[in-house]
Parts: sequence; C-alpha cells; structure tokens
Amino acid sequence: MSITLTVNGRSHTIDVDPSTPLLYVLSDDLALRGPKFGCGLGQCGACTVLARGRAIRSCVTPVSAMSGADITTLEGLGTVERPHPIQQAFIDEQAAQCGFCLNGIILTAKAFLDQQPNASEAEIQRALSGVLCRCFAHTRMLRAINRYAGHPVPSRAGDAGSATGDGEPASLWTGGVK
Ligand code: FES
Ligand code: FES
Repeated sequence: MSITLTVNGRSHTIDVDPSTPLLYVLSDDLALRGPKFGCGLGQCGACTVLARGRAIRSCVTPVSAMSGADITTLEGLGTVERPHPIQQAFIDEQAAQCGFCLNGIILTAKAFLDQQPNASEAEIQRALSGVLCRCFAHTRMLRAINRYAGHPVPSRAGDAGSATGDGEPASLWTGGVK
C-alpha cells in the first residue's frame, strides 16, 4: 500500500504494509535516528514523535494511522547550528547521561508545554511520568525543562562528586528537583 507522510516538513510516499509501526518507517525507510526503539510496547517513550499536536509513541502506531499527518521528529525541532530552545536548554544544563531517552523526554515535554505553557513543575513531572530514563538523569533534565519553561532553576550545588551529576539520589519525575 502506498502511504504519504509529511515528516519534518518533507513529504514522503512509501510503499509499505499499513500495519507497519511508524517507528520502523521513520528509522528504516527515512533513516531518522531521533526516535529510538526501546521497549516496542508503548511503555518507555523512547520512540516518541510529535503528530497532530501531541506526543505519540511511534512503536505502537501503525503507519497507516499517520497518513497525511504532519510528523515532527527530534531532528525536525532544530539543527546543530540552531537548536530549538528546549534542545539548547538541555545543552546548557548538560542534561544527558547516555542520551537514549532524550528523544522521548524532549518531545514529550515540548508537546506538553505547547499545550500548557504555564504548567507548574509538578504538572510537568506528571506529564513526564511515563517516559523512562535508566540513567537517573531526571534532576538535570528537569532543570533543563524548567529553564525552557521559564521557571527558576536551582543551583547545581548538589552535583559535585556524583557519578551521574545528579547529586542527591536522583529524583524521579514525581520526586521534585533537588
Ligand atoms: S519503544 Fe516505543 S514506547 Fe518504548
Ligand atoms: S540519559 Fe540514559 S536513559 Fe536517560
């Protein structure tokens, strides 16, 4: 079946089984490396992309469901020379550890803040509660997201000497910024 997708502003027509997960098309046919294969079950967020104003999990989304939709992947947010402000905030805060989860975290946070620009930190954490980070870099990522959202960003006093740079035992999304 022939399906047309618009990805990062470019139109692509692909001959594919309509039940193929969108993630496979993005990675295998379009060679995009932003969306990652994590669980493949819709449970970790690594494969997140933006479509129709929402963060969706491309590993459990049949490509046919996205026919005609405007899809944005992490690559479509900004460039190395001109990163999107949320990407710049992650750079400024050196928020990544291994970086595998960043795609899902950045896109989920962006989609949420696009909808609710005045969200509190607690609301941001709730929005991120289904996106997993195995490196426990939550504290730094929350700092980056707070920076992007215009919230006060606590100092990094607690970072010294930590293997992950998170200082106190890393706060998970619901644990607050240390
Ligand atoms: S790979 Fe899609 S949610 Fe985990
Ligand atoms: S930085 Fe490694 S999984 Fe989040």
